[in-house]
Amino acid sequence: MFKSYHKLFLSAAVIAAAATSAMAGDTGGSRTYSNGKKVIDGGATYPVKNGKTSLYFVNEKAHKGAVKFGRTPTKDEIAAWNIDVMPDGTGLPEGKGSVEDGDELYEEKCSACHFDFGTGGSGYPALQKGNAYEGQKSLTNQRVDGNDDGPIRVFGTYWPRASTLWWYIKTGMPHPAPMSLTNDQVYALVAYIISINELKIDGQELDDDYVLDREKFLKLVMPNKDGFVPKIDGPQGVEHARTYFNNFKNYGNGTRCMKNCFDGKPVLAKISGSGISDYQPPISEKKDLPAPKKGAAAAPGKKTYEASCAVCHGTDAMGAPMLGDKKAWAARLKKGIDKVYHNAIHGINGMPPKGGTSLSDKKIKEVVDYMVGKSK
Ligand code: HEC
Ligand code: HEC
Repeated sequence: MFKSYHKLFLSAAVIAAAATSAMAGDTGGSRTYSNGKKVIDGGATYPVKNGKTSLYFVNEKAHKGAVKFGRTPTKDEIAAWNIDVMPDGTGLPEGKGSVEDGDELYEEKCSACHFDFGTGGSGYPALQKGNAYEGQKSLTNQRVDGNDDGPIRVFGTYWPRASTLWWYIKTGMPHPAPMSLTNDQVYALVAYIISINELKIDGQELDDDYVLDREKFLKLVMPNKDGFVPKIDGPQGVEHARTYFNNFKNYGNGTRCMKNCFDGKPVLAKISGSGISDYQPPISEKKDLPAPKKGAAAAPGKKTYEASCAVCHGTDAMGAPMLGDKKAWAARLKKGIDKVYHNAIHGINGMPPKGGTSLSDKKIKEVVDYMVGKSK
């Protein structure tokens, strides 16, 4: 069920239609709560007045069920999409494919979006990360916010179960044509992705000739298999979740409370070792912010520059002296730094006062100092 939202995304119409049929049976129509609100789609409630919700008419006639769009899918339609592949092999069909075939298929059907060797980019997720890019060795800090150089979470480092990969590719990829791959093609692609992630099966790395089949695939143990708490897999899953959430130490000070529940030292959910030797540094449990990049402390104006000035000063196309252009800045500094500050604060020609910001004079000077410093 991990990532099942994706399935929903890809087949929203079918699933929504499925929901219609399922819910119609349960509810016998849209429910009206005592506050006058009506359920019209899944869990969200909207007030319906005179057949309208906000500006929009609710199509009461379209369906008797709770959802007012789509149609009820046929049994076959539901069956065709209702594929689950479980870690224990339930739902995983027989088939086979080699790393080499997977490589070829990948080039043909996937690399346009996921880039060569699955390195990702332009918003498309990476399927491996190794040390493919300088500067992306960021698995040390478990930050949620990518801007703080949080860990890069890809199949090899992060996913706890390999079965998800098989299922995901089968039902979701390639993005424009889900469900278009044969089972053998999916095995080949999965083999290729396992190989570029440098994961081993039975202690063996997957070279080009390696042929992956159902039996071997089920032996793949993901490095991050124990990295998620609480453990929700298996028959004890619900109990594990209950125990975890009943222990307030896991996300607070240890007692049930409504305020001051957090003293900054809870035992948080953690991700542990990736096992991929090539990752530098390896994935860790650190929760603190990454150390500021070298030079960042010495350059207090940098962030503001990037947010407010780089749009014009990042190139010389607009006639603005470009950051790093020694000649251009030397020419401007001839009149003295005070005059340069003055022009930055009050504007000159194409330079809007304070670059169009409402920053303090002091802050502007700081940014100018940063720009000048970078252009010496
Ligand atoms: C047209 C672009 C496109 C193509 C072609 C494509 N994908 Fe994707 N892929 C995406 C996008 C976008 C996502 C993220 C979807 C999301 O998160 O909802 C994704 C996600 C994935 C993921 C999950 C990654 C993660 O860590 O969440 C895998 C695995 C994947 N694709 C494999 C493949 C394979 C294998 C192929 C070739 C058969 C392929 N993709 C072709 C666009 C594409
Ligand atoms: C809309 C584009 C634009 C933005 C945004 C902008 N600048 Fe400029 N800036 C210019 C242009 C164009 C010039 C050259 C003006 C001229 O002298 O003809 C310039 C010149 C300057 C100069 C040189 C002034 C001098 O005395 O020669 C400084 C310093 C400067 N900008 C600082 C900043 C700072 C700091 C910011 C952000 C807070 C900023 N600029 C944002 C367009 C911009």
